[in-house]
Amino acid sequence: MVSKRSLLVLIAMLGGVVLLRGRLSGSAERISANVRAFDLPSAGMYDALVAQFLEGFYARVASEMAAAHPGGNVLEVGSGPGRLAVQLAREAPGMTVTGVDISDAMVERAARRAAGAGLSERVRFEVGDVGALPLADQEFDGVMSTLSLHHWPDPARGLAEIYRVLKPDGEARIYDLAYWLWRPARGGDRLAQLAAASPFGEGEVEIVRWPGSVPAFVLLRLQRAREAQS
Ligand SMILES: C[S@@+](CC[C@H](N)C(=O)[O-])C[C@H]1O[C@@H](n2cnc3c(N)ncnc32)[C@H](O)[C@@H]1O
Repeated sequence: MVSKRSLLVLIAMLGGVVLLRGRLSGSAERISANVRAFDLPSAGMYDALVAQFLEGFYARVASEMAAAHPGGNVLEVGSGPGRLAVQLAREAPGMTVTGVDISDAMVERAARRAAGAGLSERVRFEVGDVGALPLADQEFDGVMSTLSLHHWPDPARGLAEIYRVLKPDGEARIYDLAYWLWRPARGGDRLAQLAAASPFGEGEVEIVRWPGSVPAFVLLRLQRAREAQS
């Protein structure tokens, strides 16, 4: 026998579900769209998530960039909450780092992180689209990007912009998720084709094994040619 109290609780629960149904299904759709786009509901949530999983990966990218451009001017495209930019500036005290991201919330968060680390003079962030970078031609010795390329609506336009802002002989290192891990990320062949069709003319694609021996990332390396001596 079902008691009167249990029946009342059941009716109240069903009533609640009916009343909240629209709201619940709206949230479920939003969450699933965010997860599909690997764009979590807030910059803060993304920041907390990457703090758990990606610090070691950023340390690896930062040490590669620091070794390549110790006193240089480096751009990060799709800089998100700024963890990599700040880590790199700490590692390379002679370096200046500019982060550009399309999300205001990410840029605010990143700027707060740089200020908190006392690095605002050397690390700045701007809102901008990789397809139309708010930056001058040939300003940077190096460009880096992690886990952003698969979001760009027109990656060919993004690579053309990265080429424009790089100095001659400058290098871009674009890391993305491996295709098997996240389908919107581009596979090695598609990245190589993208590089071949870009002003760079070619690019090298490497599998990046991290964590441990898991081939979780790809790296697209692009080199802007040195200008011919006249
Ligand atoms: C998955 S997050 C990666 C953030 C950071 N690079 C990291 O590794 O944690 C992707 C970032 O790319 C940015 N983004 C997406 N489309 C962009 C675009 N067209 N131009 C610039 N940034 C973009 C997003 O706002 C987001 O911060």
